[in-house]
Amino acid sequence: MLTGKRILLIIGGGIAAYKSLDLIRRLRERGAAVTPVLTRAGGEFVTPLSVSALAEEKVHSDLFDLTDEAEMGHIQLSRVADLVVVAPATADLMAKMAQGHADDLASTLLLATDTPVLIAPAMNVRMWDHPATRRNLATLRGDGVRVSGPNEGGMACGEFGPGRMSEPLEIVAAIEAALATGPLSGRRVLVTSGPTHEPIDPVRYIANRSSGAQGTAIAAALRDLGAEVIFVTGPASVPPPPGVTVRRVETAAQMLAEVQAGLPADAAVFAAAVADWRVENAGTSKMKKVEGRLPTLSFAENPDILATVSKMGAGRPGLVVGFAAETDDVIAHATAKRARKGCDWIVANDVSPATGIMGGSENAVTLITADGAESWPRMAKDAVARQLAERIAAALGAG
Ligand code: CTP
Repeated sequence: MLTGKRILLIIGGGIAAYKSLDLIRRLRERGAAVTPVLTRAGGEFVTPLSVSALAEEKVHSDLFDLTDEAEMGHIQLSRVADLVVVAPATADLMAKMAQGHADDLASTLLLATDTPVLIAPAMNVRMWDHPATRRNLATLRGDGVRVSGPNEGGMACGEFGPGRMSEPLEIVAAIEAALATGPLSGRRVLVTSGPTHEPIDPVRYIANRSSGAQGTAIAAALRDLGAEVIFVTGPASVPPPPGVTVRRVETAAQMLAEVQAGLPADAAVFAAAVADWRVENAGTSKMKKVEGRLPTLSFAENPDILATVSKMGAGRPGLVVGFAAETDDVIAHATAKRARKGCDWIVANDVSPATGIMGGSENAVTLITADGAESWPRMAKDAVARQLAERIAAALGAG
């Protein structure tokens, strides 16, 4: 619930602005007060009248509105809220924020505020993928700005890909997560989860049986302790948890790129079952069956994401946690893996078929740290996730 919380909602100029009207309703339903700010471009997409009617508050739009300055100056306006939300956050607004511009009311408020900021980007897929937007996003993340979405899908401009603004209820979940108070409030944790798919050709791929259940539970547990969670997931069979920033990938190479884009982070948990190899001679068109001939696949080694991040030097998260799936000599193998990969902790589990852990709802793990091995009793994957999240909070000296 958001009872008693005040959200300063900046509505930027994008077609997704219509969703912000529903966002206001959802926030009001949950007991939040909404102070709306409409940029000049935002006002081309939704009217001040509909915004103020839904928010039941005056809409602010002009930096030089003398009545406003008499009633409440823009500095004060930037600080009345518990959270500043920018939805839709256009490429232009993100660029202004990253550069520290203050040439209209919205950008001035964003520069003057001492309140946490959450943005819900919305733009054409090429604008989202453009190196300038990528740089701005990294700058904003580095400044502590939280991000909801964008989602992948069809867009008003007729193209397909990432760039659609998060749905109102997804933004509400991100707002609730941003306002959650817990030992990890103000901390950012990156989590990888699920399998990867390595293409053989445009219709075939190599995969593994990871469901993503344990990684998803860990992301939810970290979120519940107040962390901002960047959740980089392969094609998992369980849906990502609400209230986390989801980055969907297919291949190990894409996962590494999204992990690097998601840093810096205070901690990183690598729960994904990453394919060790990819098909080096993957076809760009569908391989045809040829009578009497079998295809030959040649493999190349994938980057080891956990080892890459563990050994990255500057910018390495303070705590790096890897997983190890073992069938025998669990502690010895996992201890060697910790040293080889250079991570701080390894969460080892025995995946021998007799344990029923692989694909099951329970897990029995051994936590390997610099101090040795600690075996936890067998428990539900959710409970393992909560215990791990608490250990991470303690290790970061949070709370
Ligand atoms: N990992 C990774 N990138 C890879 C391979 C693995 O980030 N390309 C991470 C996994 O997310 C996990 C840990 O490394 O945290 C597992 O290491 P891995 O060497 O794959 O161990 P196992 O899966 O246990 O397999 P093996 O025993 O064959 O080494």
